[in-house]
Amino acid sequence: MTDAEALLEAAWQALEDGASRRKALFHLATLASRDSEGAPRVRTLVLRRVERRPARLRFHTDTRSAKWQGLELDDRAEACFHHPDHPLQVRAAGRAVLLSQGEVWAEAWQGTPTMSRRCYCSLGAPGSPLDDPARSMPEELRDRRPTLEESEAGRDRFGVLILEIETLDILSLDSTGHRRLIAVGDALQWVHP
Ligand SMILES: Cc1cc2nc3c(=O)[nH]c(=O)nc-3n(C[C@H](O)[C@H](O)[C@H](O)COP(=O)(O)O)c2cc1C
Repeated sequence: MTDAEALLEAAWQALEDGASRRKALFHLATLASRDSEGAPRVRTLVLRRVERRPARLRFHTDTRSAKWQGLELDDRAEACFHHPDHPLQVRAAGRAVLLSQGEVWAEAWQGTPTMSRRCYCSLGAPGSPLDDPARSMPEELRDRRPTLEESEAGRDRFGVLILEIETLDILSLDSTGHRRLIAVGDALQWVHP
C-alpha cells in the first residue's frame, strides 16, 4: 500500500467508525450547504452510515428544515469531520440526494428509535418562531418518549440526506510536516497542505 492509499484508508476507517459508535471521533459532521437565498450555512449532524463504493455518507434530518429546503434548490454540500483528539481532518464534498420515501428511507425510519423519532413530532418546522420554548412538542409528549405508535406522527417529516461524495480532501497533521491528499474516485493527488 502506498502512503497515499494508507492515508485514504485511515480516512475511510475514521468515517466508518464515526457512523458505528456514538463515542467515535467522527460521529458528528459539520455539514455546509446553501440556504434558499443562496447564503452559506453550516450545522452539526450525526453521521448515520458510510459506504465506500459508491462513496456516500448518510444523515437524517427534518424535511421541514432550512437545510432540506436549501438543498432542494442547490444540491452541492460538504461535510467536514475533525476532533481535537485526532490528527485528521476529512472533508467530503459532493451532491445531496434527499429521500422522503422509498425502500432506503423506510428502512432508515424503521431503524430510528422512538427517542430520536420524537424530534420529528415537533409542532413547528425547525427554525420557525415559538412563543414558549417549552411548547415545541405536542402537550402529551412534552416530558416523555413517545410510544412506537405515537412516534409515527413524525414519519412524514423524516428525511434521509445522502451525500454522494465527489471529492475527499484529507489533511493529516504531523509535527514533522502536514500532508494533504485529494481523492477523486480512484485518483489520488498530494497537494500542499
Ligand atoms: C450534537 C448535535 C447533533 C445533531 N444531530 C442532528 C442530526 O442528526 N440531524 C439534524 O437534522 N439535526 C441535528 N442537529 C441539529 C442541527 O445542528 C441543526 O440545528 C438543525 O438540524 C437545524 O439546521 P438547519 O436550520 O440548518 O436546517 C444536531 C445538533 C447537535 C448539537
